[in-house]
Amino acid sequence: MAEAEGRPLRPERGPDGRVLLVTGGAGFIGSNLVRWLLARYPEVRIINLDKLTYAGNLENLRDVEANPRYEFIRGDIRDRDLVRTILPRVWGVVHLAAETHVDRSILDAGEFVLTDVYGSFVLFEALRLAPQVEAFIHVSTDEVYGSREEGFFSEEDPLEPSSPYSASKAGADRLARAYNITYGLPIVILRPSNNYGPFQYPEKFIPLFTTHALEGRTLPLYGDGRQVRDWLHVEDHCRAIDLVLRRGLPGEVFNVAANNEVPNIEVARRIVNQLGRPESLIKTVPDRPGHDRRYAIDCRRIHELGWRPEVSFEEGLAATVRWYEAHPAWWKAIKEKSGEFKSFYDTYYKDRR
Ligand code: NAD
Ligand code: DAU
Repeated sequence: MAEAEGRPLRPERGPDGRVLLVTGGAGFIGSNLVRWLLARYPEVRIINLDKLTYAGNLENLRDVEANPRYEFIRGDIRDRDLVRTILPRVWGVVHLAAETHVDRSILDAGEFVLTDVYGSFVLFEALRLAPQVEAFIHVSTDEVYGSREEGFFSEEDPLEPSSPYSASKAGADRLARAYNITYGLPIVILRPSNNYGPFQYPEKFIPLFTTHALEGRTLPLYGDGRQVRDWLHVEDHCRAIDLVLRRGLPGEVFNVAANNEVPNIEVARRIVNQLGRPESLIKTVPDRPGHDRRYAIDCRRIHELGWRPEVSFEEGLAATVRWYEAHPAWWKAIKEKSGEFKSFYDTYYKDRR
């Protein structure tokens, strides 16, 4: 086989003219991905399998719901019979469905184990019965490595997750590997860093702080605010998923980050400054239990495959803040839904004072 910089050349495969299953397509990354793929490939057809948990929202996909190349199925990835009827119809899978919020996993880990680990298991088992599937992208997370103060994790480093969320994701990540090795299934693992962009559920840091600031509420900054995340614009993540769908080989693992390491306090300041609100809105609160200090991953492997981030954090964050400013109906409906939306700080710490 021909070699390029020590790596085998891979054939380009592509989703155009094929059927792709996206699990969790009504969530933040999923809805951005569905829209992005429909726009990029004129003949791709997409099935979105989503349970519509609190985080799933069909409003995220209003603009594509009438597209004849898009099909929505409301269902649970843990439903073995349902999943077994869908997989034989598709060429590829992008598996995003998961419980995703670290703070919620600290309050109650059960659904994380059931969806992130068991749900992934159900999909992998169904994949064994669908030999026509050529590409299965398992979206893991950079959190599976755990935290480190210096240096970067490579794809070969051991997984040392710290939260019930990241431990559940690590369980699924290792099952993905096992099903590739044991059964030769065409699974490729992605470990992306913190995504940001439009349609992110406003319990997560950037949309929470942006929408709270717009409402004039205080912004609960955990601990000393010096924790570092490496921010990846969701469209850059979509481009990475697309590239790996076309060029990833079964069993490969790819870190995906954009080298935008920024301490939380700095992100918070940029948000309030852009909105013209006082920095005094930012209030430090007790730290998240087990709070990972820094996520940092080495992305040389996906660079070699041909991916580079295209959105700088400056322009991506500014555009994201503008998007929430311009779409109050979207996030207010979520925040007001049954009056139940509260930040983790509200539900966890205030009750314990
Ligand atoms: P999200 O919480 O916004 O959306 C998750 C979606 O999955 C929702 O639409 C929800 O209804 C659906 N879902 C949950 N349980 C389900 C089930 N049992 N069956 C079917 N559908 C179900 O999540 P997100 O931020 O878009 O993340 C998507 C994926 O990417 C997750 O696997 C997450 O671990 C991973 N990831 C996210 C980030 C990030 O910063 N957002 C970074 C790295 C990896
Ligand atoms: O790194 C990838 C992961 O990024 C994904 O796998 C997860 O699904 C996603 O939720 C995200 O996890 P984080 O815990 O890093 O994201 P979150 O938005 O919850 O928090 C980002 C940082 O901001 C973190 O250091 C905690 C801090 N934070 C968060 C909230 C919600 C605050 O200081 N205050 C807050 O109210």
